[in-house]
Parts: sequence; C-alpha cells; structure tokens
Amino acid sequence: LDISSNRFIGNVSSNLIASPTSLEYIDLSYNLFEGLFSFSLLANHSKLEVIILASGNNKLEIETENLADWDPSFQLKVLILRHCYLNKLTGNIPKFLFHQRKLERIDLSHNNLKGSFPIWLLQNNTGLRELNLRNNSFVGKFHLPLDRYESIVSMDVSGNQLDGQLQENSGKIIPYLVYLNLSRNRFEGYLPSSIGNMSNLEFLDLSFNNFSVESLANCTSLTILKVCNNRFNGEFFSKQLKLENLLSLKLNNNQFTGTLPVVPLILFYLDISNNNMSGTIPRWIVNNTYLLTLDMSNNSFEGQIPCGQNSLYLLDLSHNLLSGSMPSCLNLPARHLRLQGNKLTGAIPKVVLNSRSASLLTLDLRDNNFSGSIPDEIGALSSLRILLLRGNHFRGRIPSQLCWLNKIDIMDLSKNSLSGKIPDCFHNISFGKTVVSDHAYNRYSSFAISSNMKIASTFQRLIEWNNEEDNKWTEYDDQVEIEFVTKYRSNLYSGDILDYMFGLDLSCNKLTSSIPQELGELSSLRALNLSYNHLTSSISPTFSHLTLLESLDLSHNNLSGETPSVLIDLSFLAVFTVAYNNLSGKVLDMKAQFATFDKSSYEGNPFLCGQPLENSCTKEDKSHPSPPKSSNASEGKWYEVDLQVFFPSFTASYIIFLLGTATLLYIHPYWQQQCFNLIEDFKYRCYYPIFDTLKKLSNRLYP
Ligand SMILES: *[C@@H]1O[C@H](CO)[C@@H](O)[C@H](O)[C@H]1NC(C)=O
Ligand SMILES: *[C@@H]1O[C@H](CO)[C@@H](O)[C@H](O)[C@H]1NC(C)=O
Ligand SMILES: *[C@@H]1O[C@H](CO)[C@@H](O)[C@H](O)[C@H]1NC(C)=O
Ligand SMILES: *[C@@H]1O[C@H](CO)[C@@H](O)[C@H](O)[C@H]1NC(C)=O
Ligand SMILES: *[C@@H]1O[C@H](CO)[C@@H](O)[C@H](O)[C@H]1NC(C)=O
Ligand SMILES: *[C@@H]1O[C@H](CO)[C@@H](O)[C@H](O)[C@H]1NC(C)=O
Ligand SMILES: *[C@@H]1O[C@H](CO)[C@@H](O)[C@H](O)[C@H]1NC(C)=O
Ligand SMILES: *[C@@H]1O[C@H](CO)[C@@H](O)[C@H](O)[C@H]1NC(C)=O
Repeated sequence: LDISSNRFIGNVSSNLIASPTSLEYIDLSYNLFEGLFSFSLLANHSKLEVIILASGNNKLEIETENLADWDPSFQLKVLILRHCYLNKLTGNIPKFLFHQRKLERIDLSHNNLKGSFPIWLLQNNTGLRELNLRNNSFVGKFHLPLDRYESIVSMDVSGNQLDGQLQENSGKIIPYLVYLNLSRNRFEGYLPSSIGNMSNLEFLDLSFNNFSVESLANCTSLTILKVCNNRFNGEFFSKQLKLENLLSLKLNNNQFTGTLPVVPLILFYLDISNNNMSGTIPRWIVNNTYLLTLDMSNNSFEGQIPCGQNSLYLLDLSHNLLSGSMPSCLNLPARHLRLQGNKLTGAIPKVVLNSRSASLLTLDLRDNNFSGSIPDEIGALSSLRILLLRGNHFRGRIPSQLCWLNKIDIMDLSKNSLSGKIPDCFHNISFGKTVVSDHAYNRYSSFAISSNMKIASTFQRLIEWNNEEDNKWTEYDDQVEIEFVTKYRSNLYSGDILDYMFGLDLSCNKLTSSIPQELGELSSLRALNLSYNHLTSSISPTFSHLTLLESLDLSHNNLSGETPSVLIDLSFLAVFTVAYNNLSGKVLDMKAQFATFDKSSYEGNPFLCGQPLENSCTKEDKSHPSPPKSSNASEGKWYEVDLQVFFPSFTASYIIFLLGTATLLYIHPYWQQQCFNLIEDFKYRCYYPIFDTLKKLSNRLYP
C-alpha cells in the first residue's frame, strides 16, 4: 500500500490499515493527514516489513504506547517515522522496537524523542545499515557498544544534546561508515584518530560542537567535510593531506592556524573564514576553474591579491591584511566580490569593469585605502545590487554612469572625498522600487553547483545517504551578509532580509549644491543619509513621497529655508535629523512620528524656533514691533490645535511616545538606544523571516 506524496487529508482511517493483515509494505508519507494515529492498529500485520510515515504537514501524531503491552507480530526491515510527533506526551522511544531484530533502516528523525542514545538498536539489529535520529532530544554520551558493526554505513545523530568526548575506538566499532553526521550536539575534546582512519567515509559533518583537535588525515574518501563552528585549532593543511577526493571543505569559525597549501586542492567550495590563518594567497586559488565559492574573510592573510583566470561566483577576502592594488588582470567573480577591511590601495582598474562583470551583484570595497575617482566604466556592472565604497579616498564627482546601475538596492559611498553635485538621475536607480527577483542574492552558486555533473552526482549520493528530502544545495547558497548604517547604528542584513533593505548613504563627503528634488521619487527607500556634506538650498517637499523612509539624516550641511511641513506624512520615520544646518522658521509640528523627535533633531540651526527647541517662535515675534507674521509653511501656529487632527494623532502619539520612549528616555540614553535596537532586531529577525516563511509556505501549499 503506497499512497505517499498525495494530498489525502483527515485521520488515517483505521479501516484502511486494520483490515488486510497480509500487508507487507505501507507507505503513507507526505500526505496531509492529521490527528492521532495509534500504531498498535498494526499489531496483527504479521507480514509487515516496511513502514514509512513521514508527515507532510507536521500535523500527524503517532502514539505507540497507548495499548498496555502490545506485542507486534511483525519483524520490520524498514521503519521510517519522520516529523510525526512520535509519542508526543512521553517522548519515549517506541517499546515495540525492543522486539525487532531484523531492522536495516531506522529513521526516527525530527520527533523530539528523549532519553539516552539507544545503543541497543545496534545490538539487537545486527544487520542495521542506516540509523537516523536527527533532531530529537537524546542526551548524554554517544557511547557505542563494544563490538564491531560492519553493516552500518550511515549514521546521523545531529541536532540532539549528546555531549562529552567520543570513544577512542569509535571508528573501529563502526568501521565502514560512509555518512556520519554528529553536528549540532555538545561534543567536545579531541576527535579520536580512529575516526580519522575510517577509510570509506565520504560525508562527515562535525559542525556546531566544541571539538578541539582534529585528525582526519587518513579519511581518504572524504568528499564533503564540515567542521565549522567548533574550537578546532592547529594547522589543518600542514599534515600530509590525502584528501584527494575532497570537493567541499568548511573550516570556518574555528581557531585554525597556518597557511593554505601550495599544492592545489580540487574543491568547488572552500570556506576558511573566521580563523587565525595567515600567509599569502596561493596562486591556485584564483587560477582555478573548479572553485565556485571562496571565503577567506576574517583571517590574517597578507600580501597582494594574485591575478588569475578564476570562474568564482563568490570571492570574499574581507578583513585580512591584504595590501597593494587590485590587479587589473583579476577576473571579477560572477556574483559577489568582497574586499572590505584590508589595506588595498590604488584606483579601481578600469579594465576590471568590463562587460564580463555585468553579472556582479555585490561589490564591497569598504574600509580600504583605494583612491582616484570612481571610474565611469562602473556603468558596466549592470546587475549590481549592492555597491559599498565607504571609507576610502575616492575623489572627484559622482559619475552619472552610476545611474545606469538601476538595480541597486543599497549604495554606500560615505566617508570619501567625493565632491560636486548629487546626480539628478539618481532617481533612475531602483532602491527597491522595482522588485528585481526574490532572493536573487543567494541562489546563484547553488545553481552553479547543481549544474555541474560531477558535483551534482556527489550531491545525489549525499541526499541518498542523508535520507533527507531537503534540498542540499541551499546550504551552498551564497551567504552574503551586508553591514549598513541606518538609525545611527550598523546593522547586518543577510539572506532574505536583504530583500527588504534599501538605502543610500552619501554622508561624510564634500558634496555641494542642492539636493536634487528627484530623490523624492525613490519611493521604496528606507534609509537616506546625506549628513556631513556641504549641501545647500532648501529641503524639497518632494521628500514627503519617500513614504517608507525609516531613517533620514540631513544633518551637518548648509541647508537653509524652512522644513517642509509635508514631511509629517513620513509615518515610518524612526530617526530624523536636520541638526547643524541653517534652517529657519518653525520646526515641524510634534504630530504623529514627529512627536518622538526631540531637540537633538533640530539643534544647531540658530534661526529655527518652536517646540521642542528652547527658543520659541512667539518670543521672537514679541521682540518685533510689528504684528507677528504667520508662518507660511504651515497653516496656523504651532500652539493652535486643530481638534480633528488632534484626537487621532494625540492617541497615536500618546501610545507610541509614552510607551515606546518616554519611560526609557528618563532612565538613561543608553537604554533608549537599547530599546530602539531591540525593536529593530525584532523587526528584522522575526517579522520579515516570518512573513517570508508564510509566503514560502503558501507557495508550497498552493503552488
Ligand atoms: C480525527 O479523530 C479524532 C479523534 O481521534 C476526532 O476528534 C477528529 O474529529 C477526527 N478528524 C477528522 C478530520 O476526521
Ligand atoms: C489482533 O488479534 C487479536 C487476536 O485475534 C485480537 O484480540 C486483537 O484485537 C487484534 N488487534 C487488532 C489491533 O486488530
Ligand atoms: C533489545 O534490547 C533491549 C534493551 O537492551 C532488550 O530488552 C531486548 O531484549 C533486546 N531484544 C532482542 C530481540 O534482543
Ligand atoms: C562550547 O563550550 C562553551 C564553553 O564551555 C559553552 O559555552 C558552549 O555552549 C559550548 N558549545 C556547544 C555547542 O556545546
Ligand atoms: C590508523 O591508521 C594508521 C595507518 O594506517 C595506523 O598506524 C593507526 O594505528 C590507525 N589508528 C587507529 C586508531 O586505528
Ligand atoms: C593559470 O591558468 C592558466 C590557464 O589555465 C595557465 O596557463 C597558467 O599557467 C596558470 N598559472 C598558474 C600560476 O598556475
Ligand atoms: C549618517 O552617517 C554618519 C556618518 O557616516 C553617521 O555618523 C550617522 O550615524 C548616520 N546617521 C544615521 C541616522 O544613521
Ligand atoms: C543663514 O540663513 C540666514 C537667513 O535665514 C541668512 O541671513 C544667513 O546668511 C545664513 N547663514 C549662512 C552661514 O549661510
């Protein structure tokens, strides 16, 4: 009976299961069943060998213990009960398994089962080949019975709470494993060398534990090795590496030292970020037609970037000690280039910006010593979505060719010496106005991986061993993480959240002349920072069209004239400042969002008056002999209350202002900032991902 991968709903009918007791094979997985399914209904199916039940909607519950002591009349070979709240109340591993002796494949993953690791499953079922207990709540040591289990080839205990050291002889007990996943537990200490001697091992995942010393030199079959997020130290590449089958290596977030090998590794994926590795970048790294993703960020690599004919998708060398100029013979990677936080000098070579770079999505050169002008040729990067040049010595005008990059979402040119006018044509740039395509940032290298025959077949094998239908490519999606300053603090945007951040930062330059009123057409912009420039003339009322703006910083310029009262319409504004300009007239009414801005938003404008500033407009009027002239920017005076507007806006302001800030304001400015940060974190960590998950889910359920 195989009705898997349909859309059957409701309870698993007891008639369906109970009557034909001659069933040998039952597969009910990936339907939309719900409710409680009592496993003891199967007790009299003496011929059953295979039971497969993986819930397709996480609504099915399986209970095996509700009949006092039922003795199954079957001896199973395959038991798969995945994602089905197995024994939800007790979390007990099913007792009927005590009487099974012929199991070859057991998968009880994603169930929240409790207790210690059931070693008796190995002892009782001597023919066991695959054991998958991923994502449960098993605790204690992972101690294998002292025997030799030669039939087992795949073992997954990831995502439990197992701890302590592994047995010294683990590798001898289960010598022929091909797939071993111990990730996301609490293992610690050194990795027994017997694991390093498991010569059939192809897929090893030790990530997210506390292992400290590795010894994998003899695992000659390893194809995919993940040891990220541990406390491994020592020189990984110093030993005589016999990892000639390796295709993907993740060493990131450890304390590895030493250099990269001189001899090329034939890898398509290499992540050694966040370690203490040093030395120069070997030539083979950039002269490698196989490598697609290379992340060496946050290490101490030095010297120059070598030049080569790579076909990389992602090259991340940020936060190292690299120096020299960007070689003009470097091929830009197909999607992401990140060189932030090095000591690179010289101009951006024009030859680098050619038609071959037209697919680049991220260009991050921040915090280096690059100089010269921004070349006009930058217009060739026609797919660019993130341009970050902050903190260099770029001079000259902003080329109008930048406006050709109309897909840009985030642009940060701050902290340079750019001069001249902000190009009028900036309104041609998207900044979120046109949705380019969902999640376009992340899905390219996994696409490249899946389209490579050799890698694809390796992954096909991995999926077989792993017994998970999850798309294994997604793990190889480029994890671009972008730092961007909004609301006075630097935030990290990564993954799908990037699809919601649109910002322009031109602060700390020498820009002059007026702000183009066309900037008001960037209707999806969330953050605009033009502070610390020499911008003149008045703030255009068109800024009131930036309705999604959350952070607007125009401080430290030479802006004059009155603040347009229509800015009141910017109802998402959390940060607003026009401080240190030469604005005059009355400040904006303390209505709606503007009730939350204190005098620091306006200070340093000697001719500005009204609440929350100290110099009130009336006083000044009194000093004049002539009758006070009314402000022409807004109707009525600030102290006259329009009751129709007053009540709704008072209620809104009262709730926002009083609950949100007032209490904290009085405690300490630090707590005020913390509160804003918290809300911000919540929004980006919770709201957008939830929104996104819901969207994905609905796409999946109702394609
Ligand atoms: C499923 O069975 C439960 C009782 O076990 C019952 O309350 C529920 O209504 C049934 N649901 C459907 C959809 O038949
Ligand atoms: C199994 O068979 C026994 C004896 O015939 C009977 O008492 C019991 O109710 C049956 N169990 C189920 C779940 O059908
Ligand atoms: C299986 O292991 C359990 C727990 O150690 C034990 O009680 C049971 O007798 C064993 N069953 C068989 C068939 O060996
Ligand atoms: C690793 O050890 C540290 C310190 O003992 C502990 O705080 C951390 O939770 C451990 N991590 C894991 C994954 O067990
Ligand atoms: C691992 O293999 C090496 C060489 O084959 C051998 O000398 C060593 O004793 C083995 N170690 C263990 C723990 O099996
Ligand atoms: C880089 O690759 C090119 C073409 O494959 C080759 O001619 C050249 O010798 C390589 N250079 C190095 C240093 O490996
Ligand atoms: C605007 O940029 C300046 C300088 O880069 C920075 O200090 C300030 O915090 C930014 N303003 C906002 C609101 O983020
Ligand atoms: C500031 O604005 C006032 C008029 O409001 C003008 O008289 C004064 O010259 C301006 N100051 C500067 C430094 O531009």
